[in-house]
Amino acid sequence: MINRIKSLFALVLIWLAGVVAAQQQTLQSLAPFKVGCAINPDLLAKNPSYQSVVTEEFNSITSENVLKFGAVHPQKEVYDFAKGDFLVAYAQMHHKRIHGHCLAWHQSVPKWLSEFEGDSAAWENLLRSHIRTVLTHYKGKMEAWDVVNEAFFDNGTYRQDSVNAPHRYITFWRNHLGEDYIARAFEYAHEADPNALLFYNDYGQESNPAKLKAILAMVTDFKRRGIPIHGLGLQMHIGINTKDSGIAEAIKQVAATGLLVHISELDIKVNQKKDTAIIYTDSLKALQCRKFAFVVEQYKKLVPKKQQYGITFWNVGDGDSWIVKWEKIKDWPLLFDVNYRKKACYSYFYDALKE
Ligand code: XIL
Repeated sequence: MINRIKSLFALVLIWLAGVVAAQQQTLQSLAPFKVGCAINPDLLAKNPSYQSVVTEEFNSITSENVLKFGAVHPQKEVYDFAKGDFLVAYAQMHHKRIHGHCLAWHQSVPKWLSEFEGDSAAWENLLRSHIRTVLTHYKGKMEAWDVVNEAFFDNGTYRQDSVNAPHRYITFWRNHLGEDYIARAFEYAHEADPNALLFYNDYGQESNPAKLKAILAMVTDFKRRGIPIHGLGLQMHIGINTKDSGIAEAIKQVAATGLLVHISELDIKVNQKKDTAIIYTDSLKALQCRKFAFVVEQYKKLVPKKQQYGITFWNVGDGDSWIVKWEKIKDWPLLFDVNYRKKACYSYFYDALKE
């Protein structure tokens, strides 16, 4: 009798240990695909809470700003790889995938580039040598690149200068090289690192059908012409009011290309109306948490396993979210709070990964 009680007791202990271990699982240990975040290397180096959340929870990282043109190529003859190299070393040490962001964009334009004067051959040479230099530096280290970022307007036309565009928004590649610079950027990237996975990345595809359609048409055209493209990034900067049907439709249509699908910059705004007095109430939290779970559920359901490149958050905690800084509003768009503690939405995201 005593022995039976002892073994029953032992079984209960094992079960309890299992429960505890299961509770200690992290996003990366649970997810059937990679879960990532955009990284600021300064925070990674200086903030121990940031560092432990990133190290424990995620198995993929994206360079947030340090490999953008203006950061990595600040002068015509100067490349600065120090911070990118730091991220690569961190990723290698912790066995994380690293995703490079981004080679051609209308922002992060250094002054020298906006002032550059030359004929179209000189501009072409700039684009090509930038891509070649950066990809050669990271050859064999960077698994993938966002080659071109945000080349379309929401109405599906190619992005162009607006009269009021501030200096950093100049769409110079298109101006000097024509729309097909996009295809050539992919060719230059492939030429420099044939093993890197190459992505086109954009926002708003879940709420702007014309933009989604234009991107899909570009992919069809690239496939016909043999332009090397391997994946599409749905940035997924959404809000609690973004329509579920739009999210599902974008994921479904992007998956139908057969390319890799990356939810590449996920965050969910609570304060879509920019209310200065807003409070993060339980009902707002519930809407946000359900939306996080919905994105995961649809990704799992609509993207075939071999195309599931992963889901990446844009930043780590609410305090370092670009939404808060960029839009100068109060908001709480991520799974971790300002102190990098798990928020309620963490468990919704976690459960959706698991189920
Ligand atoms: C943002 C960064 O997070 C900010 O720190 C920076 O000031 C501006 O750019 N879409 C993109 C990202 O593709 O590169 C942007 O990142 C956010 C929107």
